[in-house]
This record gives sequence, C-alpha cells and structure tokens, in this order.
Amino acid sequence: MTTGFFIAIEGGEGAGKSTQANLLAKHLQSLGFEVVTTREPGGTHTAEKIRDILLDPKIDDMPATTEALLFAAARADHAANLIRPALERGAVVICDRYIESSVAYQGAARGLGVDYIRQLSAWATHDLMPDFTIYIDVPVTDSAERMEGTDRMEIQSRDFHTLVHQAFRDIASNSNSAHVQIDGTRDREDIAEQISTAVTEAMKSR
Ligand SMILES: Nc1ncnc2c1ncn2[C@@H]1O[C@H](COP(=O)(O)OP(=O)(O)O)[C@@H](O)[C@H]1O
Ligand SMILES: [Mg+2]
Repeated sequence: MTTGFFIAIEGGEGAGKSTQANLLAKHLQSLGFEVVTTREPGGTHTAEKIRDILLDPKIDDMPATTEALLFAAARADHAANLIRPALERGAVVICDRYIESSVAYQGAARGLGVDYIRQLSAWATHDLMPDFTIYIDVPVTDSAERMEGTDRMEIQSRDFHTLVHQAFRDIASNSNSAHVQIDGTRDREDIAEQISTAVTEAMKSR
C-alpha cells in the first residue's frame, strides 16, 4: 500500500498524451502536490536504453514476442526504480503510456493476446496498477495528421493503428478499474479541464 497516486495516460500516436501529461502536472503542482511526470517505454536509465531499441526505425525484423518482452522489461525497471519509490514517498505519478498500451499494441494489434499481455505486465511490475487511467480517444485520421515522429511504432501501417485504436476503445469500455475516456479532438484547454475534474474526483474518492 502506497500513499501516492498513480495516473496513466493512454491513447494512440498523436492523441495528445504528452501535451495533457504536462498540463495535468502543472495543475497538480499548483495545488501543492509533488508530481513526477514520466513516460513509457522509458523513465529510467535502463528503460530509456530499451526504448532506443524498441523505437529504432532501422529495426524491421523484430518478432512481436521480442517487442512484448522488451516493453515488459522496460516497465519492470521503471516500476521498481521510479514509479514505486515515488508513490511510496507520496508523490503523484503521471505516466505517459502504461499497461493498456501494451495490451492494445502487442496484445490486440500484434495478436499476442490481451489477457496474456496483461498478465505479463502484472508479473513484470509485481502488480503495480494505476489508481486512475485517462484514455484520450482520437480517430486514426486525426492521429495520422498529428504524428510528428518517424519511430518504429509510428511508421507501422494504417491498418495496425486502426487495430490499436479499436483495442483502446474496447479496453476503455470494458474496464472495471477507475477510468475516464476523453474526446481528444476537442481543444487542448477543454481536454485539460475535463482531465483535471476527473482526476480531482478520483483522488477524492480513493
Ligand atoms: N487537442 C489538440 N488539438 C489539436 N492538436 C493537438 C491537441 N493536443 C495536442 N495536439 C498536437 O498534436 C501533436 C501530438 O501531441 P502529443 O501531445 O505529442 O501527442 P502524443 O504524446 O499522444 O503522441 C502535437 O503537435 C500537439 O501540439
Ligand atoms: Mg507523446
């Protein structure tokens, strides 16, 4: 049992996750919370090195299983060395992507199995689950327009990103954990306000 509060922000490429993670961090800091903003894959020295491999566009022969295990390995390090310690000292942790991204990308879109990937993540993190998950929903067409990078995940096919999008929606509608789905096509201040309201509610009701 930790005293902090763990928030995951999920969604496809260009959904506005990083934008909203920063706005939410500023908002919570202004309320006096210690806020740790982090991202996946990455967040720690080891996990950032794994990120470099995972997102390297020059690698075009990575088996889906390797990909899933590397994401899980990065998450294991991130959970043990950054997220859990921050929560134990009472911080609010805002994580740009977490388990649901693995479930959507590797479990559904890569076809490895959503239950299997969920179990792998749970095992890798010793069951460190978010207290609250924000899913930012953006259609694949908008997502493609907003995409800036050319990393190995972003350059996957439109069909792949469509599967990811469908999977995120399925996860959001079937989730029995604390969860909010946000329409990511609205303007960023609007979205930020919806998110802070939802987070305040979730932190109160915990
Ligand atoms: N609500 C929004 N409406 C329009 N464009 C947005 C919105 N939020 C973010 N963007 C823009 O879309 C791009 C991707 O945003 P970003 O926050 O980096 O997404 P993600 O981290 O989910 O990939 C950036 O250029 C950003 O400025
Ligand atoms: Mg981002």
